[in-house]
Amino acid sequence: MKDETYYVIQKKDNVLGLVNVPIYLSSTYRQLEPGKPISYEYARTQNPTREIMEEIIAKIEGGKYGFLFSSGMSAIDTLLSILNPNDHILVDIDIYGGTYRILEKLYRKFNIHIEYADFTNLEELSKKINVNTRMLIVETISNPLLRTPNIEEISKIKKNAILVVDNTFATPYYIKPLEFGADIVVHSITKYLSGHSDIVMGAIILNNDKLAHDIKFYQNSKGGVPSPFDLFLLSRGLKTLHIRMEKHTQNASRISEFLKNHKNVSEVYYPGYSGMVSFRIKKDIIEFAKRLEIITLGESLGGVESLLNVPYYMTHASMPEEERAKRGITKNLVRLSVGIENIEDLIKDLENALL
Ligand SMILES: Cc1ncc(COP(=O)(O)O)c(C=O)c1O
Repeated sequence: MKDETYYVIQKKDNVLGLVNVPIYLSSTYRQLEPGKPISYEYARTQNPTREIMEEIIAKIEGGKYGFLFSSGMSAIDTLLSILNPNDHILVDIDIYGGTYRILEKLYRKFNIHIEYADFTNLEELSKKINVNTRMLIVETISNPLLRTPNIEEISKIKKNAILVVDNTFATPYYIKPLEFGADIVVHSITKYLSGHSDIVMGAIILNNDKLAHDIKFYQNSKGGVPSPFDLFLLSRGLKTLHIRMEKHTQNASRISEFLKNHKNVSEVYYPGYSGMVSFRIKKDIIEFAKRLEIITLGESLGGVESLLNVPYYMTHASMPEEERAKRGITKNLVRLSVGIENIEDLIKDLENALL
């Protein structure tokens, strides 16, 4: 991201000189005559706080259009609304459990043909893409095994498909998928972009005018928009994204080295950047989780505090047992969101829990 930190892209307020994004709390707007609003009509459709933050979120990802939603799942649901019955879509095998769930439990019902592929295997992926493939869905850093499919190479073989990249784990600080050929970027803002585990929010960013028009229509029609208070918290969180991401990476790199050398850890997955580290332990997982004192056992990730997730029982529990087994989501797999605490404290906490 470098030159596109919040401070650089925030527009200067030349009316009042505000240095923060104002919170506009008006669900409706006065009209001059019936059907003639002054400018805004109704806050599901437009809200000035959201407009400012949508422009900022688009710029942070290097995109033309940004749309904000009441959750990451609402953003994903809205972008899936552009599909038509009988469309074929391909989804990476290692993907957030909630994305898998909405596809399997809801969109299959609408006759969307959902198929999974290993997006790190371009040969396999290429064979599965056909002329009717309307969409490809992949995460920059996959969940929970933290693989890093090559977005640029995938974009070269996508044919007519819309390439959707969930950039939640990597963040635009490290990679901007639109620059590598993605058509749509989606985020759970709940995670690193807001960064403080205090809001639930999602985003869609894209360049295509026609698709943006459709997304805008579905955003208003479905109505999953964020609250102005939460948008303010996003603005506050984004201001420190660059500093937080550097520290997450520093701490996660140290922890991955520590884990690689630990006798009670069998495998460590770390992509080399961002704050997510997954690993398999040789100890009882319940005992391990209970012994942690600084690291909190809880769903979610990307906050300043370290959070530990056991995907089998938590984020991926909605996946059928055999699907979890196929994907390597075993009971002893741990996904750690490394926070920005003192690194020695974190290592001591893990050391103690792994005894
Ligand atoms: C990669 C990824 N995408 C999407 C989501 C869904 O976002 P939200 O929880 O904000 O609805 C999550 C949530 O954990 C996620 O990890």
